[in-house]
Amino acid sequence: MALTWDDSLLTGVDIIDRQHRELVDRINKLLEASNQGKGKEVIRETFQFMEDYVVNHFGTEERLMVKNNYPEYANHKSYHDQFVKDLSLLKTQLDNEGLKLNLVVQTNKLLVDWLINHIKKVDKALGEFLKNKSFT
Ligand SMILES: [Fe+2]
Repeated sequence: MALTWDDSLLTGVDIIDRQHRELVDRINKLLEASNQGKGKEVIRETFQFMEDYVVNHFGTEERLMVKNNYPEYANHKSYHDQFVKDLSLLKTQLDNEGLKLNLVVQTNKLLVDWLINHIKKVDKALGEFLKNKSFT
């Protein structure tokens, strides 16, 4: 089942929303491939994409938080750091054990959970805070 992009995912900060949209497209690509039994074929590609994506995207959010003295910065950053750790554990698993279906399932789960728990809650709260700030 593909994820649909809707207003519940919007933070109201243009650059963040554009980057989130890119992530949703990428998750959909993986979900679609998984449904067709081709998850293993795109999982490496997904990890390659995610490697640059997290640096860029978390960098964008964290810069905005620092510039605007966001009081929840430390908390928010710790979620980012944890996600990077979780992702890198899965990548290590891929490198050590090779492609296994379970890895595809776990990666799907990590990404979809991120969307629901982080973007819809933590990033939205940041968007709300940034709404009337000048540094966006
Ligand atoms: Fe975030």
